[in-house]
Amino acid sequence: MDESHARKNLYVETYGCQMNDYDSQRIRTALGMNVVEDPRHADVVIINTCAIREKADQKAFSSVGRFKHLKRRNPDLIIGMGGCVAQLYGRKLLESNPHLDLVFGTRNIPELPRLISLLERERIVETSFDVEDIFGVEPFHEPGKVTGFVSVQSGCNKKCTYCVVPAVRGEEVNRPIEEILRESENLVEKGAREITLIGQTVNSWKHGGYKFGDVLRKIAGIEGLMRIRFTTSYPRDMTSKLIDAMSDTGKVCRHIHLPVQSGSNRILQAMKRTYTREWYLDTIARLRGAIPDIALSTDIIVGFPGETERDFNETMELLREVEFDGIFSFKFSPRPGTPAAGLGGSIPSDVAGRRLKELQDFQREITYAKNRSRVGCVEEVLVEGPSKNGDHMVRGRTTHNRIVNFPATTDIMGKVVSVKITEGYHNSLLGELIETI
Ligand code: SAH
Ligand code: F3S
Repeated sequence: MDESHARKNLYVETYGCQMNDYDSQRIRTALGMNVVEDPRHADVVIINTCAIREKADQKAFSSVGRFKHLKRRNPDLIIGMGGCVAQLYGRKLLESNPHLDLVFGTRNIPELPRLISLLERERIVETSFDVEDIFGVEPFHEPGKVTGFVSVQSGCNKKCTYCVVPAVRGEEVNRPIEEILRESENLVEKGAREITLIGQTVNSWKHGGYKFGDVLRKIAGIEGLMRIRFTTSYPRDMTSKLIDAMSDTGKVCRHIHLPVQSGSNRILQAMKRTYTREWYLDTIARLRGAIPDIALSTDIIVGFPGETERDFNETMELLREVEFDGIFSFKFSPRPGTPAAGLGGSIPSDVAGRRLKELQDFQREITYAKNRSRVGCVEEVLVEGPSKNGDHMVRGRTTHNRIVNFPATTDIMGKVVSVKITEGYHNSLLGELIETI
């Protein structure tokens, strides 16, 4: 790291998923600069972008515009763009944004100090996938922060026809188990009590003869670590061995995010998701058989090209059948270079919008009923910090990933406590502290 960097101020703006949050913290470590909350005080502004849907990548473009006036005031200001939009459009971004100095790809974070030092001579684009150490540079961890992420996998080898991720994050590369373990131990040493292992298809991780279940078992051995989560799982790779590892390992939370995308076999096939509705439902049954109270969440895309009312109703039926604890749902968005972008049968936006609303209204009631059903239960809550709901309140999560707010002081941060649930809302629970375990 360049010594002079330590005196500079860095502002990072992050869009998109947990992987991007993780990468933003790696950018922080790579540059070793002082991080500021206000871009007006920055010497370097980095925009870490998301390209998953059109709306997300439009946000990236407009954010460059937002920093333009800062550059007029301070011509030495460096504006860089990283993440999936940077990877997707590369040099074109420099051409269309005269204020942008640097474009770097999803695998080029460790090279940032060098790239920035080259900027004295010219504007730079570096989006090569051919790098030596994809996972080099650990993320910065705020001292005392209760939760943390560890990346176990970069890229994706699946071929879902709507998805831009394989193009912008490259082929799947799995991280050696020793490195995963070392980074997890470091996090716990810095105060983390819960670790979320992240990867595009995290449960397909394999390396050196180990499978993902082995990672769960090894991480569970870290003293001081209380909880383990992982995301995102690919339904086809939900093996019995992995389900065993989840149920055997007390530290693994009883929640899984398992994106189904659609309840129609015809659409699943057009998406190349490689499983059927029946197979997915059977996987849910296996999970519930092994871990009866497991909480389930999913992702749904509505308005995929060719989706009929009947296909959509099959998705609604699936929601009714599974009763997910929560869902993330999106209108299909055609992405450059993906097979689905070239398909005929596109669904008019108002039809897709109507289906999305119907789906979300329906799920909202399921989630609400599930939250209300917790009233009277005693939940174990890992306290993460102060609540946004008012003074003298803290916020934590249950093993099922429900947010709980309750009156207490923040000295119990990082502890697992027993909380009696008194109210269930649409997006959270309210409770009262019973005891500190
Ligand atoms: N690897 C993860 C994350 C993929 S992106 C996974 O397998 O789930 C997160 C979610 O965005 C996807 O599950 C999908 O529901 C949604 N998504 C991806 N591409 C999309 C597109 N082109 N239009 C709408 N939603 C999309
Ligand atoms: Fe995208 Fe499918 Fe991979 S949704 S990230 S191509 S599993």
